[in-house]
Amino acid sequence: MDSVHSRLDSARHAPLTLVVVGASGDLAKKKTFPAIFSLFYHDLLPDDFVVYGFARREMSDEEFREMILGTLTCRVIDGAKCAERMDAFLPRCFYHKGTYHDPATFASLDEAIVANFESRLTESVANRLFYLAVPPSVFAPSAEGVNDSARAKGNGWTRVVVEKPFGRDSASYATLRSALGAVLSEDEIYRIDHYCGKELVQNLMTLRFANAVFEPIWNRHHVESVQIVFKEPFGVEGRAGYFDNIGIVRDIMQNHLLQVFALLAMEPPVSLHAEDIRNEKVKLLRSVLPLAADDFALGQYAATADGKPGYTEDDGVPAGSRCPTFASCVLKVNNARWAGVPILIKAGKALDERVAEVRVQFKPVAGDIFGGRPSRALANNELVIRVQPDEAIYMRIVSKVPGLTSRMEEARLNLFYRHAWEESKDIPDAYERLILDVIQGEKSLFIRDDEVEIAWDLFTPALTEMEAEDSSVVPEAYPYGSAGPANSDMLAEKHGVRWSERA
Ligand code: BG6
Repeated sequence: MDSVHSRLDSARHAPLTLVVVGASGDLAKKKTFPAIFSLFYHDLLPDDFVVYGFARREMSDEEFREMILGTLTCRVIDGAKCAERMDAFLPRCFYHKGTYHDPATFASLDEAIVANFESRLTESVANRLFYLAVPPSVFAPSAEGVNDSARAKGNGWTRVVVEKPFGRDSASYATLRSALGAVLSEDEIYRIDHYCGKELVQNLMTLRFANAVFEPIWNRHHVESVQIVFKEPFGVEGRAGYFDNIGIVRDIMQNHLLQVFALLAMEPPVSLHAEDIRNEKVKLLRSVLPLAADDFALGQYAATADGKPGYTEDDGVPAGSRCPTFASCVLKVNNARWAGVPILIKAGKALDERVAEVRVQFKPVAGDIFGGRPSRALANNELVIRVQPDEAIYMRIVSKVPGLTSRMEEARLNLFYRHAWEESKDIPDAYERLILDVIQGEKSLFIRDDEVEIAWDLFTPALTEMEAEDSSVVPEAYPYGSAGPANSDMLAEKHGVRWSERA
């Protein structure tokens, strides 16, 4: 945390109000409050700060504190310190009842912040961070309320955090973009993709550009395929109201997995400056060929004999829903580095395990002197970057088995975080990293408006084709808890690739 502390120094003395709009919702309770508390626990918030919860329901400050107390956890198990920090944190939390569409309630929030906090400060500059943990339908009115009535005073900054879904296609994103752009500058908008805050995703650039060994082989001459996989072992369970309108392509692929792909495949940026990194991501995404329906394999989980529910049995799923809970697709990149290399992406719910990982599969050895290799695993080296669970980076290689034998077996060059780093016991949650970056004005992990636009332009034609009334694309049923539908294997085969076995 040392460099984090030093980067914070310039910001740490400026007083800060963190307003969580939508404070009683799921995102706020599961992610936002625990992350803010953890920053406080690790002494990473400015000395003077308050947290305001803003939502529609009636709640006293005391009830609000009770509510967030139930959400707070400490990563490092130190019961006494944890309790002491919670006791110090809660009195800084206040609640303000408001309606997202009503500018008057943002004006009264502003008055409350001034009266309770800013008027008592000796500093002349006080900043305000608004975290919009609300459905996208109220992003625009909330941003308007902030702009009209609740901006930071004088030279203080105002920053607004929003989280996907940023629309559901190119056209709806354009509407949202102009609504937010009318009241906030691009500098003030922080679009979160929490995958960018995950430790291993952050390490992609370091791995690629701080080591000499990877870049020379990171291209179509040496890489046979790339696979980016997200699997969850549970279904939508209660989130069908949100999910059925979205589907797995919009929920995971168009954002989380595309971001991982961008960091993995972009050219080296000129510097670590946010604009340089995001320029490279945008340049790469512009080189991806537009996707069509036949670049996808879709699936939907079905009930199993041992009582696991099918997707359509979830409350809130309309009968006969064709919403995909599984999708794989192949990205084709038309640039000098990646032309001809299939980039396979897979995302699914209710599968056989929880994992998010990248597999870079290298071409077989040219002029192999070892003769036929007994298994595919021995034919291709593979670099595995396991984002979760149990963060790891390892290379699958071939090795001679020790002893009086010439037998070869697969072995690993292994960077298993849990064993390698003492710090891995205390890996910050993605939201913690990202909220800290908002406070510091560091934008490299946030998504720029043109990035979202290109991401939608890539996926919208295929989504429109697949979702048309008369579309022949029907998600293939796969049993809850299985490896997914067979059409995903067929899609990979069509591109001369096989999904890697987990190893
Ligand atoms: C969210 C999706 O963005 O990411 C969820 O909406 C998904 O459907 C979640 O479960 C996965 O995030 P993580 O961090 O648990 O891998």
